[in-house]
Amino acid sequence: MGFIKKNYSDGFFNVGDKNGFLPSKSPLEVLPNSYSILQDILDKMPVNIDGKSGYLDHPGKIHDSVEDLPNYFDNVKEESDIMIIQALYRAYCFLASAYTLEPSFQHFRKTGNYGKAKNILPKQISQPFVEAATKLDVYPWLDYHYAYSLGNFKKIDKSGDHKWNNLDMCVRFSGQPDEVGFIMLHVDINQHSPSLVGSVINVLHALKENNHKDSTKFLKENYDTMKLMNTRRKEMWKASRWNHYNDFRIFIMGVKGNEELFGDGVLYQGVWDEPKQFRGQTGAQDDIIPMEDIFSGVIKHYPKNELTKYLMDLRSYRPKCVQQFFKDLEDTVNEFDGDGISDVLLKQKNFDGLCFLLGILEEIYHFRNGHWQFVQKYIMANTKYSKATGGTPIISWLPNQMKAVMNEMKYVISIIENNSLSKETSMIYNDISNSIGKKVDLLDHQLKLIQKKSFSANKVYDLNKKYDLSDNPN
Ligand code: HEM
Repeated sequence: MGFIKKNYSDGFFNVGDKNGFLPSKSPLEVLPNSYSILQDILDKMPVNIDGKSGYLDHPGKIHDSVEDLPNYFDNVKEESDIMIIQALYRAYCFLASAYTLEPSFQHFRKTGNYGKAKNILPKQISQPFVEAATKLDVYPWLDYHYAYSLGNFKKIDKSGDHKWNNLDMCVRFSGQPDEVGFIMLHVDINQHSPSLVGSVINVLHALKENNHKDSTKFLKENYDTMKLMNTRRKEMWKASRWNHYNDFRIFIMGVKGNEELFGDGVLYQGVWDEPKQFRGQTGAQDDIIPMEDIFSGVIKHYPKNELTKYLMDLRSYRPKCVQQFFKDLEDTVNEFDGDGISDVLLKQKNFDGLCFLLGILEEIYHFRNGHWQFVQKYIMANTKYSKATGGTPIISWLPNQMKAVMNEMKYVISIIENNSLSKETSMIYNDISNSIGKKVDLLDHQLKLIQKKSFSANKVYDLNKKYDLSDNPN
């Protein structure tokens, strides 16, 4: 058991106040020359390449191209530079998903339903792929950190920032701007993670030292950063049009939980004799909300259900350094007497700090409620296929975690009550305590609707406007 450290690094990611959850250096945009045939396939692969059609636009073409791909297994075995290993892992992740899911994509284009995927990976993909995955100590399937999102961006203007419209993907599936906007917005939000991670670490140190001033200061920093992240998150409605989500969604599906597509799993030829099942890339592998849940105490209200099990299972789909960070964070929070940092703040009579904690919880609520609206629109209003890319039955699961946030909010409101506050924190307290009833009512109303056998996703979505909790600024 260890008190939270300042940094957790694997050479690619460096979780701390300098890089947050982003890589410490920009990822390689292309593979080294020795892998030129693989790079060439990736370049020609997207459905759409600047208005021209790529391999994935034509049934079977990606399979033909893989026939001429050399098996780079021995080369990958020799690699020791983490930047190259990550770029190789990303390359094989994309190729494996394109290769297996292309038939489902073509079927979807024709019928509106996902057809069966191809569930065999030939040696020239599976062997170097598993080798690169083993070197990174991750599963050999498209993930969020090293492959699809955080390790897949390049800046358009190199001196510019990480806003989604200054970012492009190094490797793509659809090639449409909606795919780029969708996943680059995740990177955009994470550009503010250094101050989020830094403030979490600093609050915990300040609480240990019973340092009121610093606890309050860093809780405020965390609250302000969450507000900023929510502002960036709302850009999703602009960055990626909801009715274009299906252009690329099929390619990010996982194997586990999606048996209708993959049957027993995928056979990695020349590696394992049995088919394997790994989960798909999903924003649920992002680190912001899980970190905030552990830190703020929301996690102790997680219901005992399948979503919670799934979220815990997803811990193992993260880089080892992130897993260690979460573990130490959990141990550190549990090391204090009481039931989470709300109780520590109460014991230290830091009511201003508690108000900032309440503000943080409110922002976690907004993140989840806005995100729930993404799911209503991008998925529920868009498709008949009820499984999410991570393999979850989305509709019934997500609201549970929103209830967990509201439970901790109610607890924090109850322990602040009637204590003297500064002008700034009393405004936060009054705003939030006066509006929590509305949030509870909105969710109850939505849950009643979706429990009906047939419901309209648009009606569920429209309720957000009625309660004045709409996320979409347009
Ligand atoms: C159009 C945008 C988005 C859609 C359609 C979407 C969809 C989903 C779906 C279907 C799930 C259910 C679990 C699964 O199967 O993996 C999920 C979970 C999750 N997503 Fe997203 N997502 C979007 C954007 C984001 C963004 C921008 C983030 C954060 C940067 C994010 C973070 C999460 C987290 C943390 C979970 C776990 C559930 C929870 O803790 O409440 N998502 N998402």
